[in-house]
Amino acid sequence: MGPPLPLEIYGLLMAKDAANALRCVPRFSGPRALNAALQDALEHPFAPARSSAYQRWRERKLARYPRRAEDLVVEVRDPRDLSASEVAQIRRVCGAANMAVYASPLAGVADKDIARRLGARLGLAQLHTNPLADEDGISALEAAPAKAARGYIPYSNQRLLWHTDGYYNAPAQRIRAFILHCVRPAAAGGENRLLDPEIAYLLLRDADPHYVEALSAPDAMTIPANAEAGAVLRPAQTGPVFSNDGGALHMRYTARTRSIEWRPDEATRAAAQFLQQMLDTDSRYVFTLRLAGGQGLVCNNVLHNRSAFADGPAPTPGRLVYRARYTNRVGTA
Ligand SMILES: [Fe+2]
Repeated sequence: MGPPLPLEIYGLLMAKDAANALRCVPRFSGPRALNAALQDALEHPFAPARSSAYQRWRERKLARYPRRAEDLVVEVRDPRDLSASEVAQIRRVCGAANMAVYASPLAGVADKDIARRLGARLGLAQLHTNPLADEDGISALEAAPAKAARGYIPYSNQRLLWHTDGYYNAPAQRIRAFILHCVRPAAAGGENRLLDPEIAYLLLRDADPHYVEALSAPDAMTIPANAEAGAVLRPAQTGPVFSNDGGALHMRYTARTRSIEWRPDEATRAAAQFLQQMLDTDSRYVFTLRLAGGQGLVCNNVLHNRSAFADGPAPTPGRLVYRARYTNRVGTA
């Protein structure tokens, strides 16, 4: 028996992937093979050069990914007080698709505690506030002419292009999860399309590994500063589209063509164009849904858009959706 292994090596050996990899190393193949196996196991599946880790992850991802939007739905009795089995079910669906839709009987109940308590129960503790959110950090999204006039489309009834939330934020303010809770749908429209960023990554990498390489460059996408009346409200943000966020894949993206600067080279242009086309075509991986009253989306900041909507004539109350954003992710199963 050789000398005892240092503590950190014991830690590594406890990692499931590392253990699996070590099983593949012939018993007497020496320290070099052992090192290579450990290296491979510890590499992130999203690292460009490590195709074996990626291939293993890819197979598992596709096998678990839901086929239809209905497969995302978890019936819950009261989202303010989820049962243990409801929590487990939401985590399981999130584990497969980075999103789940809960359906509750609370149609028309305008209570922000719904989003707050549901998030807290799922481990979403770090609520992120933004200048337009109401004071408690949960935004009431409805057609609000004053905010819409300042160019904040979420507060209008116009369509929203594909994006991930907070793509303009600094890394320390990364939005890793959000909840959209629908109190009341619109009279017409207001449909969402949703795509798991891991699937977007997978489709791009399968089409051409250079696409994900280009979009992982630290200067792939710049959002210019946001200035109003000469004052800078938010400085310019340069960063990658895809990044390794502590072992999870993080994605920053917006399909807007104004107020965005792509890295000016051919590889980035081709990758951004392919991604845009992928989102614009009907893919079986894209889910389309229109949240009904009492329903909500909880997700690890998936790609999403929203169609335009029309509210009914006054005094009928219009579409109302609460949005809560978080800087931590939904723990998944
Ligand atoms: Fe959004």
